[in-house]
Amino acid sequence: MSPSEVSSADGEEALARILQLTDTHLFAEPGARLGGVDVDASLAAVIEHAVSAHPKADLVLATGDLVHEEMAASYERLAGYLARLQCPVFCLPGNHEDKGLLAAQCRHSPHLRDDKEVTIGDWRILLLDSAQPPEPGGYLPEAELAFLEQALASDPDRPSVVALHHPPVSIGSPWMDAMSVANADGLFAVLDRYKEVRAVVFGHIHQHFEATRAGVRYLGAPATGLQFLPGAAQSAYDSRPPGYRWLELGPDGALQTGVERLVEPVT
Ligand SMILES: [Fe+2]
Repeated sequence: MSPSEVSSADGEEALARILQLTDTHLFAEPGARLGGVDVDASLAAVIEHAVSAHPKADLVLATGDLVHEEMAASYERLAGYLARLQCPVFCLPGNHEDKGLLAAQCRHSPHLRDDKEVTIGDWRILLLDSAQPPEPGGYLPEAELAFLEQALASDPDRPSVVALHHPPVSIGSPWMDAMSVANADGLFAVLDRYKEVRAVVFGHIHQHFEATRAGVRYLGAPATGLQFLPGAAQSAYDSRPPGYRWLELGPDGALQTGVERLVEPVT
């Protein structure tokens, strides 16, 4: 498959503006709650914040667990909410996903994409599938690692961001770390050969996280709904509001990023 191309929204090709929305966990019926959070209302509020604070976003990365109830109605409503962003949304699967239904929704919704490679300006984004539903943990099949290797080798001087659902690094929360990418060494073996990979962006953890390994930034984001407590040994919710990550990809591989949250949770 040839890479998808996205043009900068404001014609300022030197700067690509990206938003990461993750772990939307929608149910088939609106108004359902996950851990006390109305996931529909929370997602809608997060999207309104994103549209207001980042009106020039060129594309969105939706990094998995897009539904909690794996039914067509969940994906249809997701597509409706994401249309408000008015830019392409590149989706990858999480452990809470029906990959067939997600692919079908991407075929039916012009703003939803499931491409594995996107070029924008000087940059390239590579989307990997680490999900093995119904297993909660992450794993990168040989085909995913081979795709990554081939893509990076084909244009090794282009600054790149890798996106996937599961964290490949420890986030210091034992119950979450038990679900990280089981064969992360295979991923690192590829990434360590290519100097232009600048960041690995992931979901799954429902919390803000940043670390650096071998010059690559590892970036986790809050969920659009339910938050998990950083550092927790076992499953624990967090009262912090929902949010999302923004990234600005500039010339010469410069990457700026941060996390935005609502003022308070949506319950
Ligand atoms: Fe999740």
